[in-house]
Amino acid sequence: MPHGGKLIQRQVNCEERDMFLQIIGNLKTITLNRWHVSDLELIANGGFSPLTGFMGKSDYTRVVEEMRLEDGMIWSIPITLDVEQTQAETLEIGEQIALVGEDNEVYGVLDLTEKFHYEKEKEAKLVYGTTDSKHPGVRKVYEKGEVYVAGPIRLLQKKSNNPFANYQLDPVETRQLFKDLGWKTIVGFQTRNPVHRAHEYIQKCALESVDGLLLNPLVGETKSDDISPAIRMKSYEVILDKYFPPDRTRLVIYPAAMRYAGPREAILHAIVRKNYGCTHFIVGRDHAGVGDFYGTYEAQELIRQYEAELGIQILAFEHAFYCTTCENMATEKTCPHDKTYHVHLSGTKVREKLRNGEHLPKEFSRPEVAKVLIEGLRQR
Ligand code: ADX
Repeated sequence: MPHGGKLIQRQVNCEERDMFLQIIGNLKTITLNRWHVSDLELIANGGFSPLTGFMGKSDYTRVVEEMRLEDGMIWSIPITLDVEQTQAETLEIGEQIALVGEDNEVYGVLDLTEKFHYEKEKEAKLVYGTTDSKHPGVRKVYEKGEVYVAGPIRLLQKKSNNPFANYQLDPVETRQLFKDLGWKTIVGFQTRNPVHRAHEYIQKCALESVDGLLLNPLVGETKSDDISPAIRMKSYEVILDKYFPPDRTRLVIYPAAMRYAGPREAILHAIVRKNYGCTHFIVGRDHAGVGDFYGTYEAQELIRQYEAELGIQILAFEHAFYCTTCENMATEKTCPHDKTYHVHLSGTKVREKLRNGEHLPKEFSRPEVAKVLIEGLRQR
């Protein structure tokens, strides 16, 4: 069951699109950045169900303060559209506004119901747990316009995800896909990284007890030193091809932007995967974390408190590594040997090695994956 009971659909059909395109020239416009465009798509395709538009003040305030929508339903991250004060003054409540990308494409329309000011430091502190502008999500909040504009949206077209077109499915389509495959239990896996051995290990542990795995990498905006979606998608193809059972695995992109909001983002990630039709969701070490802003298991601790209400089963995994004595992937739960036997590389170390064209140990990453990453980074 989708969050809130119903899968939201805000995409126009062909006739509606023609109608909107006729009037669009007369509408005021708001320019959307990449982040807004991906939020718009996820509202429209039902990934963000039950949201039907960008949040108004009462939803926003309750989400920030209590992690709930106005009606009490659990929701952890504000989904908002910001504009500068000067632009906000030109917009009138009740009017329809064209939502235009930085590429001048018209992506949608907004029925403006509200404009409101908000406190950036409060949003940073409560949602991200810090006001430190070194946090990439917090920095984004500080860069926003001062006014949020709200109201229901319609989507006229999606951002072209051409390189990943084969992997672009809406929640209604993934739900149908799972039905066609006969999968009753599906584990969703969020990632903004290539699939290394630790990821593979926890995915496969989960797959031991469910019917299928939805590998659902985030391909919206990420911080600049994360590996680009184009390179990652190639790395997913090679690992799936060689190491995963094709009848139990599907790769579908998650078009969202990465917030790096750790525990709160884990909850959003779980809600969205529920909307895509997953029954289970993996939360491993420092889920959606960045730097040292969150504790290793903080996301698991927070999400556990809401698991029953979320309506998706959380599969929590401890920090996984390769143990040279066990000669296996393992965690502290399953391995009796001390850290000197464990192969672990930090994200920073991995990126450094790859940029220098150095191969990653095969205990850390499949050679096929490392090869794609080295080649991809060399070409940049
Ligand atoms: S995230 O920002 O998308 O969470 P990443 O792609 O690294 O980052 O992680 C994807 C998922 O795998 C998350 O649930 C994360 O907690 C989990 N994970 C990543 N590395 C490990 C590891 N070594 N051991 C256990 N879980 C891990």
